[in-house]
Amino acid sequence: MAGKPAVGLDIGTSSIKLAHLKETSKGPQLLAFDTMVLPPDTIKDGVILNAPELVRRLQDLFASNKVRERRVAVSLSGHSVIIKKIALPEMSQAELDEQIQWEAEQYIPFDIKDVNVDYEIINPRAGQGQMDVLLVAAKKAVISELTEVVRAAKLEPVVVDVDSFAIFNAFELNFAVPQQEAVALINVGASTININVVADGATSFTRDITVGGNLLTDEIAKQFAVPWEEAEHMKTTSETTLSMSGVLREVQRIGQRVSENLINEIQRSLDFFAATAMNADISAIYLCGGAALQTGLIEGIERRLGVTVRALNPFGSIVVDPKKFDAQLLQRMVPVSAVAIGLARRQQGDR
Ligand SMILES: Nc1ncnc2c1ncn2[C@@H]1O[C@H](COP(=O)(O)OP(=O)(O)OP(=O)(O)O)[C@@H](O)[C@H]1O
Ligand SMILES: [Mg+2]
Repeated sequence: MAGKPAVGLDIGTSSIKLAHLKETSKGPQLLAFDTMVLPPDTIKDGVILNAPELVRRLQDLFASNKVRERRVAVSLSGHSVIIKKIALPEMSQAELDEQIQWEAEQYIPFDIKDVNVDYEIINPRAGQGQMDVLLVAAKKAVISELTEVVRAAKLEPVVVDVDSFAIFNAFELNFAVPQQEAVALINVGASTININVVADGATSFTRDITVGGNLLTDEIAKQFAVPWEEAEHMKTTSETTLSMSGVLREVQRIGQRVSENLINEIQRSLDFFAATAMNADISAIYLCGGAALQTGLIEGIERRLGVTVRALNPFGSIVVDPKKFDAQLLQRMVPVSAVAIGLARRQQGDR
């Protein structure tokens, strides 16, 4: 019997997202979902710069949503995580348990003493006496930095996941995972783009690109010589004051240009996947993340890559009580919700 799911807690550069689910006979039901904005320099390039502020906001978010569950599932992304699919001779789980540390040393570019290694057999019969194993290594120092902050907020981290796996979990909950074709799940956040290419029904390739929506905010701040917060506001609003002054048109023009940069990066990663995979044709892209809303991004990806882009909306299969949640408000949070929902599916003891 599975235990109660932990609270999914996605600590992003621009905001924290909280998702709490409960299993019911009709499927997972939403108990809580909310976001809390973080001041600009709370987290930068994946490093927590202002831990006390983050702790305060975590506590606020739990208190204002009256979430009493303290066990949380959190996640990492960016340079501190390495994910590699490796081919090994077929062996039992026990044999693999013994060998993995040694294998990891060959593939992980960090000192093995500094990382936690985890792995999963994703394709036990890859053919010719081989099997595919997904190897995950995360820097211990980064894990403890994150878990310390979480504990300081009186929460108990029971799962430490990876953003790109969390979006796969959210995807799996809502869409049939294609068994024959490859699809790319892409989360465009404020400072990181997570890519997870799913092929043969499992994660085949992941890549975190350390660039995102902040690039556009920086660019607007520079062009208009305004403070960062104001640039962020100009970017995410389409208020009439902006549209009348012609500022909106200029913001969109800059957005278009910055989107092209992000698409270059995405294309480069998918090209890399294509060059190394057997079944490399990507049949669809599922997009999420706040910066997926950026001017020109969706159309640009479709045009450049010639692949249909769909929204990775993680709420499709979740039971939502309309008396408890404002449908419009929830709808607005859809783009940023995938990681938190994916994490909220995790249970203590999961690997
Ligand atoms: N309507 C919009 N138009 C353009 N950009 C937007 C819009 N809404 C949100 N964004 C951008 O989306 C980003 C936030 O997305 P998200 O919450 O997914 O990132 P994050 O999880 O905080 O960051 P990361 O995962 O990179 O650490 C910000 O850069 C924000 O400016
Ligand atoms: Mg994020």
